[in-house]
Amino acid sequence: MSDRKPLIAGNWKMNLDHQQAIALVQKIAWTLKDVDHDYEKVEVAVFPPFTDLRTVQTLLDADKLQLRLGAQDVSKHESGAYTGEVAGAFLKKLNVEYVLIGHSERRQHHNEDDELVRDKVAACFKNKLVPVICVGETLEELEAEGAAAVPVRQLTKALEGHKDIGDFVVAYEPVWAIGTGKVATSEQAAEVAKKLRQTIGELVSAETAEQTRILYGGSVKSANVAGFLASPEVDGVLVGGASLVVDEFTGICRFQKHVSL
Ligand code: PGA
Repeated sequence: MSDRKPLIAGNWKMNLDHQQAIALVQKIAWTLKDVDHDYEKVEVAVFPPFTDLRTVQTLLDADKLQLRLGAQDVSKHESGAYTGEVAGAFLKKLNVEYVLIGHSERRQHHNEDDELVRDKVAACFKNKLVPVICVGETLEELEAEGAAAVPVRQLTKALEGHKDIGDFVVAYEPVWAIGTGKVATSEQAAEVAKKLRQTIGELVSAETAEQTRILYGGSVKSANVAGFLASPEVDGVLVGGASLVVDEFTGICRFQKHVSL
């Protein structure tokens, strides 16, 4: 058992407007309240679209809900003539704590390369936001290089050259497992997480490696979550599709029913 607090993160992607967001957050909060969920033991965060953030922040505040708030992206710039971009400072003002950086859908569809990912990680550190650095290999890369090579390379690039490294989370998400219903084996997830932790140890410090949470993502469901979190190397999950379904997401949050930590 590690001292790292498990994190269950729900990436809503481009789903739910701000009114639908209220309904989902309320249902998640009520369901977890009914089962006496201990947020001190297992942290739960939602990552709605930008247009929902203010509404969700107001709801969390007004109802004193213990869910944490995350954003799905941030600009590498601080402010200025960057039409369509959202600055880290704006997110911070909305009590956003976490930001997904380098999700494979952004790498694939928005041409985000390792350098941009690194700059966005820097923007997070600058604004005291916690980047959730997403890394993962495609099927071709898995076949050519094994599971860990690409994630380790991507993480190395993301952590390169920062003056100050703040808190961060790493999400290992094999590209071929995202939204496909295919999952990595829990052994593969644990093995890659271990190598990512070694990388953090080499690049930053042993202490940071020990403290940093490494999540698994890719077709996580309530029925398979326990397998991933049975390993002490895996400190939580990043959930896409299943994070939009109340019973599924809250079932995932209650993974400890099936695992002894
Ligand atoms: P999925 O998505 O759970 O729908 O596979 C995971 C993610 O993209 O973060």
